[in-house]
Formats: sequence, C-alpha cells, structure tokens
Amino acid sequence: MEKDTQDLLFFHEYEAFYSMAAKSGVFGEFCKKAFGEDFSQDGFSDIRQIDRILAYVPQNRQANILDIGCGNGKMLGYLQRKTGAFIHGFDYSEQAIQTAKQQYPQQSDFRRGVIGRIAYPEAAFDLIVSMDTMYFADDMAAFVGQLFRWLRPGGVFFCAYQEGDVMPKTDNVDTTKLAEAFRKNNIDFMVEDITAECYELLKRKREAADSLKKAFLQAGEEDWYRMLLMQTECALEPFEVFRGKMARYLFTAKKAAV
Ligand SMILES: C[S@@+](CC[C@H](N)C(=O)[O-])C[C@H]1O[C@@H](n2cnc3c(N)ncnc32)[C@H](O)[C@@H]1O
Repeated sequence: MEKDTQDLLFFHEYEAFYSMAAKSGVFGEFCKKAFGEDFSQDGFSDIRQIDRILAYVPQNRQANILDIGCGNGKMLGYLQRKTGAFIHGFDYSEQAIQTAKQQYPQQSDFRRGVIGRIAYPEAAFDLIVSMDTMYFADDMAAFVGQLFRWLRPGGVFFCAYQEGDVMPKTDNVDTTKLAEAFRKNNIDFMVEDITAECYELLKRKREAADSLKKAFLQAGEEDWYRMLLMQTECALEPFEVFRGKMARYLFTAKKAAV
C-alpha cells in the first residue's frame, strides 16, 4: 500500500470498519434492521434510497454501473441481482475491495483506487452511483467533470449527499459544494431533499443498535456499538433542530444524449 494513500482522510478508520464488517454477524444484523438490507453501510443509505437507483438502469441491454466508494460491493451486488447489470466499483480500502472481489466474482470489476487518481475510459457507464463519497474529492468540480466523461451519452449520475457530517451544513441545496461543482461544469441536475427520511433512518439506527446491545457486547464489539450511539445522537433532538444542523439530498444528473 502506497504511503500517500494511507495518509488520506479516514483511511485507517475505513480499513478497520471493513475488517469488522467482514467478520461481524451482529453488525450485519444491525444493518438489516436499520437500513432494510445489509450493505455494510457506514452512513445513511437505506433500501428506500437504493431502490430509487433501479429506475435509472437501462432495461433493454446489460447495463454497466459504476459505484464510486463502493466499499465491500454489497450495494452493487444487490443492483446486479435486481437488474443483471455488469458491476464496477472502486474504493481506496484494500480490505473492502478484497471482500468485494471474493463475494461478487461474476460480471464485475472491482478496483482499489483513489478519487481523482483512478481512470476509466470515456463513455464506459450507463449509470454512475455515489453514496456518501463525493466529499473525499480534493477538487469536486474537476471530479464531476471527469465522471461525466466516463458516462455514456444519456447516462445518469445518482448521488446521495449529506451535510452536517463530513461536509459542513450550508443554507440550502444551491449552496452545497456539489451543486457548485455541477454549475462549474454547466451540468443541469435535479434534487430530492430527503432530510426528513434521514432523520427517521437515524432514529431507526439508534433503536437497532440498542436492540442489539447485548449481542454487540457478547461479541466483544462494544466499540462499534458505542460508535453507532455517538453517530445517532443528533436524532434525539426535535426534527426542527436536526434540520438546522443536517441535510440530505439525492442528486441526479443526466448526460445529454447525442
Ligand atoms: C461514507 S462511506 C460510504 C460507503 C458506501 N458507499 C455506503 O453508502 O455505505 C465512504 C466510502 O468511500 C471510501 N473512500 C473514502 N475516501 C476515499 C478516497 N479518497 N478515494 C476512494 N475511496 C474513498 C471509503 O473507504 C468508504 O467505503
């Protein structure tokens, strides 16, 4: 592993997270309870959000789908089961990519790679998905421009984007760094504000963690249980307070067909 990759933000935390996810039955159970499916989620992406992606997968041929920050590939595995797509994913976590390659060897291409450094051919994908990962681009506008070159004409970019976590909360969707990145590239986009859904999800995460407290402790995974409680403290506040500190948006942008 190159030293400069190891120095990237949260690199060691994600290696530890995906090692835990590869071993822990309790965490898998937690994900099912909280998110509706176990995709080893670290963040905020439940099955309601993932199922919205299905509408953008072409039906008339085998689609090529790329996931940016694919983790251990479980979300892509689900999209493949549902649509028969060829799945592509990259992530800087060695542990995550190793698991993805083992779990999904068919019709797939998983690579260890860093945002802004990895390259794909132009017009290679029908759909590019990024759930809670755009924050890690050093230059978000340049990366949006690059991933639009990777999309086929008529292809779609689908992105879940949170404020108040890695990114600071701004006034509204137009002031997000991602909206700014689209504008810099002259790309039109649509947005769904799902902050209320996210609030409910965080409450579910907290309830699921609490219901599995004993199992986490018995498995020697108290640290992960405590992390889940810490991550979901904001959902104890009334929604109006939460909404002032956090926002969640689903962005979709279509590349013009030629
Ligand atoms: C918040 S998690 C989201 C994971 C997954 N998409 C999900 O929704 O559960 C961010 C993911 O991006 C990866 N990541 C973080 N920084 C990265 C970078 N600079 N280049 C590539 N992957 C990165 C992490 O390993 C992790 O899998």
